[in-house]
Amino acid sequence: MPIVEAKGVRKVYRGDGVETEALRGVDLRLEAGEFTALVGPSGSGKSTLLHILAGLDLPTEGEVWVGGVRLDRLSRAERARFRLEHVGLVFQAYNLLPVLTALENAAFVLELRGLSRPERERRAMAALEALGLADKAGRFPRQLSGGEQQRVAVARALAAEPLLVLADEPTANLDSKTGLALIERMQALNEERGVTFLFSTHDPRLLAHVKRIVRLEDGRLVGEEWP
Ligand SMILES: Nc1ncnc2c1ncn2[C@@H]1O[C@H](COP(=O)(O)OP(=O)(O)OP(=O)(O)O)[C@@H](O)[C@H]1O
Ligand SMILES: [Mg+2]
Repeated sequence: MPIVEAKGVRKVYRGDGVETEALRGVDLRLEAGEFTALVGPSGSGKSTLLHILAGLDLPTEGEVWVGGVRLDRLSRAERARFRLEHVGLVFQAYNLLPVLTALENAAFVLELRGLSRPERERRAMAALEALGLADKAGRFPRQLSGGEQQRVAVARALAAEPLLVLADEPTANLDSKTGLALIERMQALNEERGVTFLFSTHDPRLLAHVKRIVRLEDGRLVGEEWP
């Protein structure tokens, strides 16, 4: 069974009398353990597709399956619960909470899940360690560099031990060295723990590190590569 399957996904945004067809019939399958980049020009539909696969938004048409569950048939609350249990998100709109430390941010999803404090701190600390941030656990986001904040966001996604991590331009706003280091950490987690990753990126240097590249143009998948 694939971990992610989009079948004939269309997305039309409607508002102010304007319609935008952001996705025009996307079929995509990801098998468990994939480490895949989603590329394409600005406006091609990458963020839209990631939001739909995360269940943050619904397709206008088509089916979205994650871990054998048909997401587009769930209510908003059920989708939120599903995300909490199974999907890690690294999206710009889901930034760190400024009033929480790195450790508390990384533990936040686990708190929502109702884990005890020692258990969630143990797991959050392990995720911070895996991202090279153990010594920064007590710092607030404003006391961290952009790259460190981005890594805390990845640690938060991983602390929950998800099946799948969806990331929208996780290395945007990082210098190239920090961006590569982040991707290498993600790659190690993919190889060592089998977490499936799908992330969008505009950075051609990162593409050398992925197993598969999926290309979107104007709302359609137009090609794939296995570098
Ligand atoms: N909430 C929205 N309402 C209306 N149109 C939208 C909305 N979000 C995105 N769009 C439009 O849908 C299309 C796809 O946008 P999307 O954000 O998915 O592109 P993208 O590939 O992520 O681009 P970028 O690389 O710039 O982040 C664009 O034409 C965009 O203007
Ligand atoms: Mg985008």
